[in-house]
Amino acid sequence: MNEPRPRSESAIERLLAKYDQRVPRYTSYPTAPHFTPTVGAATYRDWLDTLDPALPLSLYVHVPFCDTLCWFCGCHTKIVRRYQPVAAYLEVLRREIDLVAKALGTRRTACHIHFGGGSPTILKPGDFAALMALLRDRFAIREDADIAVEIDPRGLDADLVTAMAAAGVNRASLGVQDLDPEVQRAVNRLQPLEETVRAAELLRAAGIGSINIDLMYGLPGQSAAGVQATVEAAVAALDPERICLFGYAHVPWMKRHQRLIDESTLPPPAARFAQYMSAAEQLQDLGYVWIGLDHFAKPDDPLARAMRNGTLRRNFQGYTTDNAPARLGFGPSAIGTLPQGFVQNAVPLHAYRDAVLAAALPIVRGLRLSDDDRMVGTVIERLMCDLAVDVAAVAAAFGRPPTVFDAALADLGEMAADDLVTVEGSRVRVSEAGRPFVRAVCARFDRYLEPGASRHAHAV
Ligand SMILES: C[S@@+](CC[C@H](N)C(=O)[O-])C[C@H]1O[C@@H](n2cnc3c(N)ncnc32)[C@H](O)[C@@H]1O
Ligand code: SF4
Repeated sequence: MNEPRPRSESAIERLLAKYDQRVPRYTSYPTAPHFTPTVGAATYRDWLDTLDPALPLSLYVHVPFCDTLCWFCGCHTKIVRRYQPVAAYLEVLRREIDLVAKALGTRRTACHIHFGGGSPTILKPGDFAALMALLRDRFAIREDADIAVEIDPRGLDADLVTAMAAAGVNRASLGVQDLDPEVQRAVNRLQPLEETVRAAELLRAAGIGSINIDLMYGLPGQSAAGVQATVEAAVAALDPERICLFGYAHVPWMKRHQRLIDESTLPPPAARFAQYMSAAEQLQDLGYVWIGLDHFAKPDDPLARAMRNGTLRRNFQGYTTDNAPARLGFGPSAIGTLPQGFVQNAVPLHAYRDAVLAAALPIVRGLRLSDDDRMVGTVIERLMCDLAVDVAAVAAAFGRPPTVFDAALADLGEMAADDLVTVEGSRVRVSEAGRPFVRAVCARFDRYLEPGASRHAHAV
Protein backbone atom coordinates (compact mmCIF):
# COMPACT_ATOMS: atom_id res chain seq x y z
CA MET A 1 0.00 0.00 0.00
CA ASN A 2 1.21 3.53 -0.73
CA GLU A 3 2.84 5.40 2.10
CA PRO A 4 0.75 8.44 2.96
CA ARG A 5 2.43 11.67 2.00
CA PRO A 6 2.66 14.03 4.93
CA ARG A 7 0.04 16.69 4.41
CA SER A 8 -0.20 20.13 5.87
CA GLU A 9 -3.09 21.05 8.13
CA SER A 10 -4.60 23.24 5.44
CA ALA A 11 -4.37 20.38 2.90
CA ILE A 12 -6.22 18.13 5.33
CA GLU A 13 -8.87 20.78 5.92
CA ARG A 14 -9.32 21.07 2.17
CA LEU A 15 -9.75 17.27 1.84
CA LEU A 16 -12.20 17.19 4.72
CA ALA A 17 -14.23 20.00 3.18
CA LYS A 18 -14.39 18.05 -0.07
CA TYR A 19 -14.87 14.49 1.11
CA ASP A 20 -16.07 14.53 4.71
CA GLN A 21 -19.58 14.41 3.36
CA ARG A 22 -22.46 12.90 5.16
CA VAL A 23 -22.23 9.43 3.68
CA PRO A 24 -23.35 6.04 5.03
CA ARG A 25 -21.09 3.71 7.00
CA TYR A 26 -21.88 0.97 4.48
CA THR A 27 -22.62 -1.79 6.95
CA SER A 28 -24.90 -2.96 4.14
CA TYR A 29 -25.69 -2.03 0.57
CA PRO A 30 -28.26 -0.75 -0.08
CA THR A 31 -28.25 0.90 3.33
CA ALA A 32 -31.06 0.65 5.88
CA PRO A 33 -32.68 4.06 5.09
CA HIS A 34 -33.65 2.57 1.71
CA PHE A 35 -35.63 -0.28 3.22
CA THR A 36 -39.37 0.03 2.51
CA PRO A 37 -42.58 -1.54 3.83
CA THR A 38 -43.00 -3.42 0.54
CA VAL A 39 -41.02 -6.18 2.25
CA GLY A 40 -42.94 -7.41 5.28
CA ALA A 41 -43.77 -10.53 7.26
CA ALA A 42 -45.18 -12.45 4.27
CA THR A 43 -42.05 -11.92 2.22
CA TYR A 44 -39.84 -12.92 5.15
CA ARG A 45 -41.90 -16.09 5.57
CA ASP A 46 -41.35 -16.92 1.88
CA TRP A 47 -37.65 -16.24 2.14
CA LEU A 48 -37.32 -18.41 5.26
CA ASP A 49 -39.29 -21.11 3.52
CA THR A 50 -36.88 -21.26 0.59
CA LEU A 51 -33.71 -21.03 2.68
CA ASP A 52 -31.49 -23.99 1.82
CA PRO A 53 -31.51 -26.21 4.96
CA ALA A 54 -27.86 -27.07 4.31
CA LEU A 55 -26.74 -23.47 4.81
CA PRO A 56 -25.35 -22.52 8.22
CA LEU A 57 -26.97 -19.49 9.81
CA SER A 58 -25.74 -16.55 11.76
CA LEU A 59 -28.02 -15.26 14.53
CA TYR A 60 -28.25 -11.73 15.92
CA VAL A 61 -30.15 -11.15 19.16
CA HIS A 62 -30.89 -7.57 20.18
CA VAL A 63 -31.34 -6.62 23.84
CA PRO A 64 -32.75 -3.08 23.77
CA PHE A 65 -32.15 -2.00 27.39
CA CYS A 66 -29.56 -0.17 29.45
CA ASP A 67 -29.63 1.07 33.01
CA THR A 68 -28.25 4.53 32.26
CA LEU A 69 -28.17 6.66 29.14
CA CYS A 70 -24.88 7.65 27.53
CA TRP A 71 -25.69 10.93 25.85
CA PHE A 72 -23.73 10.01 22.72
CA CYS A 73 -25.63 6.77 22.25
CA GLY A 74 -26.75 6.03 18.72
CA CYS A 75 -28.00 2.49 19.45
CA HIS A 76 -31.60 1.28 19.71
CA THR A 77 -31.99 1.12 23.46
CA LYS A 78 -34.28 2.14 26.26
CA ILE A 79 -33.36 3.05 29.80
CA VAL A 80 -35.01 0.92 32.46
CA ARG A 81 -34.77 1.25 36.20
CA ARG A 82 -36.49 -2.05 36.99
CA TYR A 83 -36.04 -5.57 35.64
CA GLN A 84 -39.71 -6.21 34.95
CA PRO A 85 -39.70 -4.75 31.38
CA VAL A 86 -36.61 -6.81 30.59
CA ALA A 87 -38.25 -10.00 31.85
CA ALA A 88 -41.42 -9.19 29.89
CA TYR A 89 -39.33 -8.55 26.79
CA LEU A 90 -37.57 -11.90 27.12
CA GLU A 91 -40.94 -13.65 26.98
CA VAL A 92 -41.69 -11.91 23.67
CA LEU A 93 -38.21 -12.61 22.34
CA ARG A 94 -38.67 -16.32 23.10
CA ARG A 95 -41.90 -16.27 21.15
CA GLU A 96 -40.22 -14.59 18.19
CA ILE A 97 -37.45 -17.21 18.19
CA ASP A 98 -40.16 -19.88 18.20
CA LEU A 99 -42.05 -18.22 15.35
CA VAL A 100 -38.94 -18.06 13.19
CA ALA A 101 -37.87 -21.62 14.08
CA LYS A 102 -41.35 -22.83 13.08
CA ALA A 103 -41.23 -20.89 9.82
CA LEU A 104 -37.90 -22.57 9.04
CA GLY A 105 -39.51 -25.96 9.55
CA THR A 106 -36.37 -27.91 10.31
CA ARG A 107 -33.66 -27.37 12.92
CA ARG A 108 -30.92 -25.40 11.22
CA THR A 109 -27.23 -25.14 12.00
CA ALA A 110 -25.89 -21.87 13.45
CA CYS A 111 -22.23 -20.95 13.20
CA HIS A 112 -22.28 -17.41 14.65
CA ILE A 113 -24.32 -15.79 17.40
CA HIS A 114 -24.08 -12.15 18.38
CA PHE A 115 -25.89 -10.60 21.35
CA GLY A 116 -26.01 -6.85 20.82
CA GLY A 117 -27.77 -3.88 22.24
CA GLY A 118 -28.34 -1.94 24.27
CA SER A 119 -26.60 -3.92 26.93
CA PRO A 120 -27.17 -7.69 26.90
CA THR A 121 -25.36 -7.68 30.26
CA ILE A 122 -28.54 -6.30 31.82
CA LEU A 123 -29.92 -9.86 31.73
CA LYS A 124 -30.00 -11.95 34.89
CA PRO A 125 -27.68 -14.98 34.73
CA GLY A 126 -30.56 -17.44 34.72
CA ASP A 127 -32.31 -15.53 31.95
CA PHE A 128 -29.20 -15.48 29.78
CA ALA A 129 -28.75 -19.23 30.33
CA ALA A 130 -32.42 -19.85 29.45
CA LEU A 131 -32.15 -17.76 26.29
CA MET A 132 -29.08 -19.66 25.12
CA ALA A 133 -30.76 -22.96 26.02
CA LEU A 134 -33.71 -21.98 23.84
CA LEU A 135 -31.41 -21.07 20.95
CA ARG A 136 -29.55 -24.38 21.33
CA ASP A 137 -32.85 -26.21 21.33
CA ARG A 138 -34.16 -24.52 18.18
CA PHE A 139 -30.82 -24.38 16.34
CA ALA A 140 -27.91 -26.82 16.15
CA ILE A 141 -25.13 -24.51 17.28
CA ARG A 142 -21.83 -25.66 15.87
CA GLU A 143 -19.17 -26.75 18.31
CA ASP A 144 -16.78 -24.12 16.90
CA ALA A 145 -19.40 -21.34 16.70
CA ASP A 146 -18.38 -17.80 17.52
CA ILE A 147 -20.69 -16.63 20.31
CA ALA A 148 -20.18 -12.95 21.09
CA VAL A 149 -21.78 -10.61 23.61
CA GLU A 150 -21.66 -6.81 23.82
CA ILE A 151 -20.82 -5.92 27.38
CA ASP A 152 -21.29 -2.84 29.51
CA PRO A 153 -18.37 -3.29 31.95
CA ARG A 154 -19.98 -1.07 34.59
CA GLY A 155 -21.09 -3.30 37.45
CA LEU A 156 -20.72 -6.46 35.37
CA ASP A 157 -22.18 -9.33 37.39
CA ALA A 158 -19.70 -12.17 38.08
CA ASP A 159 -22.52 -14.73 38.05
CA LEU A 160 -23.62 -13.51 34.63
CA VAL A 161 -20.08 -14.01 33.34
CA THR A 162 -20.12 -17.56 34.71
CA ALA A 163 -23.48 -18.19 33.03
CA MET A 164 -22.26 -16.76 29.73
CA ALA A 165 -19.13 -18.92 29.76
CA ALA A 166 -21.17 -22.02 30.66
CA ALA A 167 -23.52 -21.22 27.75
CA GLY A 168 -20.59 -21.20 25.32
CA VAL A 169 -19.89 -17.48 24.92
CA ASN A 170 -16.32 -17.10 23.64
CA ARG A 171 -16.11 -13.44 22.59
CA ALA A 172 -16.82 -10.28 24.53
CA SER A 173 -16.95 -6.71 23.32
CA LEU A 174 -16.59 -4.10 26.05
CA GLY A 175 -17.67 -0.48 25.75
CA VAL A 176 -14.85 1.77 26.98
CA GLN A 177 -15.07 4.96 24.83
CA ASP A 178 -12.69 7.34 26.69
CA LEU A 179 -10.92 7.19 30.04
CA ASP A 180 -10.77 10.91 30.80
CA PRO A 181 -13.22 11.67 33.64
CA GLU A 182 -13.99 15.08 32.06
CA VAL A 183 -15.05 13.46 28.79
CA GLN A 184 -16.93 10.78 30.68
CA ARG A 185 -18.85 13.45 32.59
CA ALA A 186 -19.65 15.31 29.36
CA VAL A 187 -21.37 12.20 27.98
CA ASN A 188 -22.89 10.89 31.21
CA ARG A 189 -20.82 7.72 31.31
CA LEU A 190 -18.62 7.43 34.38
CA GLN A 191 -16.45 4.34 34.08
CA PRO A 192 -13.11 4.16 35.87
CA LEU A 193 -10.51 2.00 34.11
CA GLU A 194 -10.37 -0.28 37.17
CA GLU A 195 -13.98 -1.25 36.54
CA THR A 196 -13.25 -2.23 32.95
CA VAL A 197 -10.14 -4.15 34.07
CA ARG A 198 -12.24 -6.05 36.58
CA ALA A 199 -14.74 -6.95 33.84
CA ALA A 200 -12.00 -8.15 31.50
CA GLU A 201 -10.42 -10.21 34.28
CA LEU A 202 -13.74 -11.82 35.12
CA LEU A 203 -14.30 -12.68 31.47
CA ARG A 204 -10.83 -14.12 30.92
CA ALA A 205 -10.91 -16.07 34.18
CA ALA A 206 -14.18 -17.65 33.03
CA GLY A 207 -12.55 -18.67 29.75
CA ILE A 208 -14.04 -15.96 27.53
CA GLY A 209 -10.68 -15.27 25.97
CA SER A 210 -11.29 -12.98 23.04
CA ILE A 211 -11.82 -9.41 24.15
CA ASN A 212 -12.70 -6.44 21.99
CA ILE A 213 -12.94 -2.90 23.30
CA ASP A 214 -14.85 -0.01 21.75
CA LEU A 215 -13.13 3.38 21.84
CA MET A 216 -14.49 6.63 20.48
CA TYR A 217 -13.11 9.87 19.09
CA GLY A 218 -14.95 13.07 18.30
CA LEU A 219 -16.66 13.15 21.71
CA PRO A 220 -17.14 16.43 23.58
CA GLY A 221 -13.94 17.71 25.12
CA GLN A 222 -11.73 15.08 23.51
CA SER A 223 -8.29 16.01 22.16
CA ALA A 224 -5.76 13.99 20.16
CA ALA A 225 -3.52 13.78 23.23
CA GLY A 226 -6.47 12.65 25.34
CA VAL A 227 -7.50 9.91 22.90
CA GLN A 228 -3.87 8.77 22.81
CA ALA A 229 -3.74 8.62 26.59
CA THR A 230 -6.89 6.47 26.54
CA VAL A 231 -5.42 4.16 23.89
CA GLU A 232 -2.19 3.77 25.80
CA ALA A 233 -3.78 3.08 29.18
CA ALA A 234 -6.58 0.86 27.81
CA VAL A 235 -4.22 -1.31 25.76
CA ALA A 236 -1.73 -1.61 28.63
CA ALA A 237 -4.39 -2.56 31.15
CA LEU A 238 -6.71 -4.69 29.01
CA ASP A 239 -4.50 -6.14 26.27
CA PRO A 240 -7.53 -6.55 23.97
CA GLU A 241 -7.41 -8.87 20.95
CA ARG A 242 -9.45 -6.35 18.96
CA ILE A 243 -10.28 -2.65 19.15
CA CYS A 244 -13.01 -0.65 17.44
CA LEU A 245 -12.24 3.05 17.09
CA PHE A 246 -15.56 4.72 16.33
CA GLY A 247 -15.99 8.34 15.31
CA TYR A 248 -18.83 9.85 17.31
CA ALA A 249 -21.87 10.09 15.01
CA HIS A 250 -23.73 13.19 16.16
CA VAL A 251 -27.25 12.89 14.75
CA PRO A 252 -29.47 14.82 17.19
CA TRP A 253 -32.25 14.96 14.60
CA MET A 254 -32.50 11.16 14.93
CA LYS A 255 -31.33 10.68 18.53
CA ARG A 256 -32.92 13.52 20.46
CA HIS A 257 -31.01 12.79 23.68
CA GLN A 258 -27.77 13.75 21.88
CA ARG A 259 -29.00 17.33 22.33
CA LEU A 260 -27.88 16.93 25.94
CA ILE A 261 -24.36 17.23 24.52
CA ASP A 262 -23.09 20.78 24.28
CA GLU A 263 -22.29 21.08 20.56
CA SER A 264 -19.79 23.85 21.22
CA THR A 265 -17.56 21.26 22.95
CA LEU A 266 -17.52 18.89 19.96
CA PRO A 267 -14.16 18.83 18.20
CA PRO A 268 -14.31 20.39 14.71
CA PRO A 269 -13.62 18.14 11.66
CA ALA A 270 -9.85 18.73 11.52
CA ALA A 271 -9.49 17.97 15.24
CA ARG A 272 -11.61 14.81 14.89
CA PHE A 273 -9.40 13.76 12.01
CA ALA A 274 -6.25 14.31 14.08
CA GLN A 275 -7.71 12.22 16.93
CA TYR A 276 -8.56 9.39 14.56
CA MET A 277 -5.28 9.36 12.69
CA SER A 278 -3.02 9.71 15.71
CA ALA A 279 -4.86 6.92 17.56
CA ALA A 280 -4.68 4.70 14.45
CA GLU A 281 -0.95 5.30 14.16
CA GLN A 282 -0.44 4.62 17.83
CA LEU A 283 -2.42 1.36 17.68
CA GLN A 284 -0.26 0.18 14.80
CA ASP A 285 2.87 1.09 16.78
CA LEU A 286 1.43 -1.02 19.59
CA GLY A 287 1.32 -3.99 17.23
CA TYR A 288 -2.28 -3.92 15.99
CA VAL A 289 -3.24 -4.34 12.36
CA TRP A 290 -5.55 -1.64 11.00
CA ILE A 291 -8.59 -3.27 9.48
CA GLY A 292 -10.80 -1.35 7.08
CA LEU A 293 -12.11 1.90 8.44
CA ASP A 294 -12.16 1.57 12.17
CA HIS A 295 -11.14 -1.87 13.49
CA PHE A 296 -7.78 -3.00 14.82
CA ALA A 297 -6.69 -6.54 15.69
CA LYS A 298 -3.61 -8.40 16.83
CA PRO A 299 -1.86 -9.88 13.78
CA ASP A 300 -2.75 -13.48 14.70
CA ASP A 301 -6.41 -12.67 15.46
CA PRO A 302 -8.92 -14.31 13.08
CA LEU A 303 -10.09 -10.85 11.97
CA ALA A 304 -6.57 -9.89 10.85
CA ARG A 305 -6.14 -13.29 9.20
CA ALA A 306 -9.43 -12.83 7.33
CA MET A 307 -8.22 -9.46 6.11
CA ARG A 308 -4.97 -10.98 4.87
CA ASN A 309 -6.68 -13.78 2.98
CA GLY A 310 -9.42 -11.62 1.50
CA THR A 311 -12.32 -13.22 3.42
CA LEU A 312 -13.14 -10.30 5.70
CA ARG A 313 -16.84 -9.37 5.68
CA ARG A 314 -18.82 -6.37 6.82
CA ASN A 315 -22.22 -6.59 8.45
CA PHE A 316 -24.43 -4.46 10.67
CA GLN A 317 -22.08 -5.00 13.64
CA GLY A 318 -19.01 -3.91 11.66
CA TYR A 319 -16.10 -5.98 10.34
CA THR A 320 -16.43 -9.70 10.92
CA THR A 321 -15.22 -13.16 9.99
CA ASP A 322 -18.88 -14.23 9.83
CA ASN A 323 -19.49 -15.41 6.29
CA ALA A 324 -22.75 -17.29 6.86
CA PRO A 325 -24.96 -16.91 3.78
CA ALA A 326 -27.93 -15.89 5.92
CA ARG A 327 -28.28 -13.98 9.14
CA LEU A 328 -31.46 -13.93 11.18
CA GLY A 329 -32.19 -11.00 13.48
CA PHE A 330 -34.24 -11.21 16.67
CA GLY A 331 -35.56 -8.37 18.79
CA PRO A 332 -36.77 -4.86 17.99
CA SER A 333 -34.82 -3.09 15.20
CA ALA A 334 -32.88 -6.29 14.37
CA ILE A 335 -32.00 -6.69 10.70
CA GLY A 336 -31.90 -10.01 8.91
CA THR A 337 -29.88 -10.67 5.77
CA LEU A 338 -31.12 -13.43 3.50
CA PRO A 339 -29.98 -14.43 0.04
CA GLN A 340 -33.01 -12.56 -1.37
CA GLY A 341 -32.60 -9.36 0.63
CA PHE A 342 -32.88 -7.56 3.96
CA VAL A 343 -35.66 -7.54 6.55
CA GLN A 344 -35.96 -5.32 9.61
CA ASN A 345 -38.06 -5.81 12.72
CA ALA A 346 -40.22 -3.04 14.14
CA VAL A 347 -38.10 -0.59 16.10
CA PRO A 348 -40.49 0.56 18.87
CA LEU A 349 -40.71 -2.10 21.55
CA HIS A 350 -44.51 -1.94 21.67
CA ALA A 351 -44.91 -2.42 17.92
CA TYR A 352 -42.49 -5.36 18.01
CA ARG A 353 -44.30 -6.89 20.99
CA ASP A 354 -47.78 -6.43 19.52
CA ALA A 355 -46.77 -8.19 16.30
CA VAL A 356 -45.09 -11.12 18.03
CA LEU A 357 -47.95 -11.56 20.51
CA ALA A 358 -50.31 -11.71 17.53
CA ALA A 359 -48.10 -14.56 16.25
CA ALA A 360 -46.84 -12.43 13.35
CA LEU A 361 -43.21 -12.09 12.29
CA PRO A 362 -42.50 -8.49 13.38
CA ILE A 363 -40.96 -7.37 10.08
CA VAL A 364 -41.93 -3.83 9.09
CA ARG A 365 -39.57 -3.06 6.25
CA GLY A 366 -36.88 -4.50 4.07
CA LEU A 367 -35.42 -4.58 0.62
CA ARG A 368 -35.47 -7.19 -2.11
CA LEU A 369 -32.03 -7.23 -3.71
CA SER A 370 -31.74 -6.81 -7.45
CA ASP A 371 -28.74 -8.23 -9.30
CA ASP A 372 -27.52 -4.68 -9.63
CA ASP A 373 -27.73 -4.22 -5.84
CA ARG A 374 -25.74 -7.42 -5.31
CA MET A 375 -23.09 -6.37 -7.79
CA VAL A 376 -22.67 -2.86 -6.38
CA GLY A 377 -22.87 -4.31 -2.86
CA THR A 378 -19.94 -6.60 -3.67
CA VAL A 379 -17.86 -3.67 -4.93
CA ILE A 380 -18.66 -1.62 -1.83
CA GLU A 381 -18.05 -4.48 0.62
CA ARG A 382 -14.67 -5.29 -0.98
CA LEU A 383 -13.69 -1.61 -0.86
CA MET A 384 -14.70 -1.33 2.79
CA CYS A 385 -12.86 -4.59 3.68
CA ASP A 386 -9.88 -4.81 1.29
CA LEU A 387 -9.58 -1.13 0.31
CA ALA A 388 -9.30 -2.45 -3.23
CA VAL A 389 -11.48 -4.01 -5.87
CA ASP A 390 -11.33 -5.05 -9.50
CA VAL A 391 -14.69 -3.75 -10.69
CA ALA A 392 -14.50 -5.59 -14.04
CA ALA A 393 -14.02 -8.90 -12.21
CA VAL A 394 -17.07 -8.16 -10.07
CA ALA A 395 -19.07 -7.13 -13.16
CA ALA A 396 -18.02 -10.36 -14.93
CA ALA A 397 -19.09 -12.45 -11.94
CA PHE A 398 -22.56 -10.92 -12.38
CA GLY A 399 -22.56 -11.41 -16.16
CA ARG A 400 -22.30 -7.69 -16.82
CA PRO A 401 -19.97 -5.85 -19.21
CA PRO A 402 -16.79 -4.30 -17.78
CA THR A 403 -18.10 -0.86 -18.75
CA VAL A 404 -20.91 -0.99 -16.20
CA PHE A 405 -18.84 0.96 -13.66
CA ASP A 406 -17.38 3.49 -16.09
CA ALA A 407 -19.36 6.43 -14.70
CA ALA A 408 -18.31 5.62 -11.11
CA LEU A 409 -14.66 5.23 -12.15
CA ALA A 410 -14.79 8.59 -13.91
CA ASP A 411 -16.34 10.03 -10.77
CA LEU A 412 -13.25 8.92 -8.83
CA GLY A 413 -11.03 11.23 -10.90
CA GLU A 414 -10.96 13.98 -8.31
CA MET A 415 -10.17 11.60 -5.46
CA ALA A 416 -7.39 10.10 -7.63
CA ALA A 417 -5.97 13.57 -8.25
CA ASP A 418 -5.92 14.03 -4.48
CA ASP A 419 -3.95 10.75 -4.12
CA LEU A 420 -6.75 9.09 -2.17
CA VAL A 421 -7.31 6.33 -4.75
CA THR A 422 -5.56 4.90 -7.75
CA VAL A 423 -7.55 3.65 -10.71
CA GLU A 424 -5.61 1.40 -13.08
CA GLY A 425 -7.93 0.05 -15.72
CA SER A 426 -10.67 -1.60 -13.70
CA ARG A 427 -8.66 -1.84 -10.50
CA VAL A 428 -9.49 0.63 -7.76
CA ARG A 429 -7.15 0.86 -4.80
CA VAL A 430 -7.66 3.14 -1.85
CA SER A 431 -4.31 4.60 -0.78
CA GLU A 432 -3.26 4.64 2.86
CA ALA A 433 -3.98 8.39 2.82
CA GLY A 434 -7.39 7.60 1.35
CA ARG A 435 -8.35 5.01 3.97
CA PRO A 436 -10.15 7.55 6.23
CA PHE A 437 -12.19 8.56 3.17
CA VAL A 438 -13.12 5.04 2.05
CA ARG A 439 -16.82 5.73 2.70
CA ALA A 440 -16.64 8.61 0.23
CA VAL A 441 -15.01 6.26 -2.31
CA CYS A 442 -17.85 3.76 -1.83
CA ALA A 443 -20.40 6.56 -2.22
CA ARG A 444 -19.20 7.03 -5.82
CA PHE A 445 -20.63 3.56 -6.56
CA ASP A 446 -23.84 4.00 -4.54
CA ARG A 447 -26.78 4.18 -6.91
CA TYR A 448 -29.24 5.20 -4.19
CA LEU A 449 -27.39 8.22 -2.90
CA GLU A 450 -28.93 11.50 -3.90
CA PRO A 451 -26.49 14.35 -3.37
CA GLY A 452 -27.34 16.19 -0.18
CA ALA A 453 -30.54 14.20 0.37
CA SER A 454 -29.52 11.87 3.15
CA ARG A 455 -28.52 12.91 6.60
CA HIS A 456 -25.71 10.77 7.90
CA ALA A 457 -22.94 11.66 10.29
CA HIS A 458 -19.55 12.91 9.06
CA ALA A 459 -17.56 10.37 7.08
CA VAL A 460 -14.38 10.87 9.08
C1 LIG B 1 -24.25 -1.36 22.19
S1 LIG B 1 -22.88 -0.39 22.63
C2 LIG B 1 -21.73 -1.50 23.44
C3 LIG B 1 -22.17 -2.25 24.69
C4 LIG B 1 -22.65 -1.44 25.86
N1 LIG B 1 -23.97 -0.97 25.63
C5 LIG B 1 -21.71 -0.32 26.20
O1 LIG B 1 -21.96 0.79 25.76
O2 LIG B 1 -20.75 -0.56 26.93
C6 LIG B 1 -22.12 -0.23 21.07
C7 LIG B 1 -20.99 0.73 20.86
O3 LIG B 1 -21.39 1.66 19.88
C8 LIG B 1 -20.61 2.82 19.99
N2 LIG B 1 -21.51 3.96 19.82
C9 LIG B 1 -22.66 4.20 20.48
N3 LIG B 1 -23.20 5.35 20.05
C10 LIG B 1 -22.39 5.84 19.09
C11 LIG B 1 -22.41 6.98 18.26
N4 LIG B 1 -23.39 7.90 18.33
N5 LIG B 1 -21.41 7.16 17.37
C12 LIG B 1 -20.41 6.25 17.25
N6 LIG B 1 -20.34 5.15 18.02
C13 LIG B 1 -21.31 4.95 18.93
C14 LIG B 1 -19.93 2.80 21.34
O4 LIG B 1 -18.54 2.66 21.14
C15 LIG B 1 -20.53 1.57 22.00
O5 LIG B 1 -19.58 0.89 22.78
S1 SF4 C 1 -23.57 3.28 24.59
FE1 SF4 C 1 -24.10 1.26 25.34
S2 SF4 C 1 -24.50 1.57 27.57
FE2 SF4 C 1 -24.51 3.58 26.64
S3 SF4 C 1 -26.71 3.95 26.27
FE3 SF4 C 1 -25.78 3.15 24.35
S4 SF4 C 1 -26.12 0.98 24.38
FE4 SF4 C 1 -26.46 1.75 26.49
